[in-house]
Amino acid sequence: MNLPYLQLHYSAKLVRKIDLRYAFILVTLIFFLDFVHCFSRQNVIDSPLLTQKIGTNHTIIVDVNGKGDFKSIQAAIDRIPNGNSHWIIIHIMNGVYREKVSIPRNKPYIFMRGNGRGRTSIVWSQSSYDNYESATFKVEAPHFVAYGISFKNIAPTHIAHTSETRSVAALVGGDKAAFYHCAFFSNYNTLFDYKGRHYYDNCYIQGSIDFIFGHGQAMFHDCELFVITNWKDEIRGSVTAHHRNSHNEDDTGFVFVKGRVYGTRDDVYLGRAKGAHSRVIFANTYLSRTVIPHGWSNSSYKGSTKNLFQAEYNCHGPGSGSSNRAPWSKQLRDKEAAPFLSIDFIKGAQWLPAWF
Ligand SMILES: *[C@@H]1O[C@H](CO)[C@@H](O)[C@H](O)[C@H]1NC(C)=O
Ligand SMILES: *[C@@H]1O[C@H](CO)[C@@H](O)[C@H](O)[C@H]1NC(C)=O
Repeated sequence: MNLPYLQLHYSAKLVRKIDLRYAFILVTLIFFLDFVHCFSRQNVIDSPLLTQKIGTNHTIIVDVNGKGDFKSIQAAIDRIPNGNSHWIIIHIMNGVYREKVSIPRNKPYIFMRGNGRGRTSIVWSQSSYDNYESATFKVEAPHFVAYGISFKNIAPTHIAHTSETRSVAALVGGDKAAFYHCAFFSNYNTLFDYKGRHYYDNCYIQGSIDFIFGHGQAMFHDCELFVITNWKDEIRGSVTAHHRNSHNEDDTGFVFVKGRVYGTRDDVYLGRAKGAHSRVIFANTYLSRTVIPHGWSNSSYKGSTKNLFQAEYNCHGPGSGSSNRAPWSKQLRDKEAAPFLSIDFIKGAQWLPAWF
């Protein structure tokens, strides 16, 4: 990284000898090459890397236009035997798949590989009183990987005079699930991180109220959390609602490392506590003005705030100021934050195919 400064110095000398324009071109070129170099040093987790890590070429092609083995994703999943014990790739070609998709408990080792979240999407429209019922996509099997897919529930929210407002885009209820470069869209209760250990890398998650919620133990690395306006709601939006009742034998929590929180409103909480031990940490994250100065809410939990773990570490941006934060919330010190900053939080080295 010191290289451009050296080169700049050198090229500054050149300026006297040669035309200024050449010097400018030279400097630009050096910066560009350095940028490319830095960029290529980062490990972008892409689908060839994941495929290699998973170590199989066993692929089923799903193509909505009929050029694959199946036209429907669920039809492909149905064909995988119960108790499957070898990784199988379901490659989902470009297209909008209008279906509900469910991976039941007894079908582990599925890798759903899309062509990118702008190209492959699974879309359904259902709202319900019940989160589980409403979900467009459900995975309850352990050992699951998704890459480059959008999960959408496009149900309108707050249908007049009903409580049928839940419209989950994805329910993640199996242990050891990883999502890379995926996107989750809904107006209400977008991502149900129900239970188990999960990893989300470079994902885009959009919603309004409590839109990442559940009892899960999840790490979100470099994800974009976009808060949309939901005019009909009387309560303030919240990015998360993590549910944890006890700290004994319960390692769950939502950890956000890097990434961004932003959106179209300016009064959103980072978390609304569910249960006495709700645990959410935002670390090294950009917080825009979307985040309300109070930061955290206890409004879904009637009781002492003593055991809530609503914490931030080293965040930046105009929404990160800590002076008006909820008194029970924490600004972690280095040592306190350390256990949450790596995939050790989800024991990822034991099961993740790839991570940062
Ligand atoms: C998958 O196929 C490619 C190309 O045919 C081959 O190079 C690679 O070794 C295969 N990988 C596995 C795990 O079978
Ligand atoms: C819950 O939050 C509100 C607003 O910050 C606060 O007035 C109240 O005391 C909190 N409840 C407890 C039990 O701390």
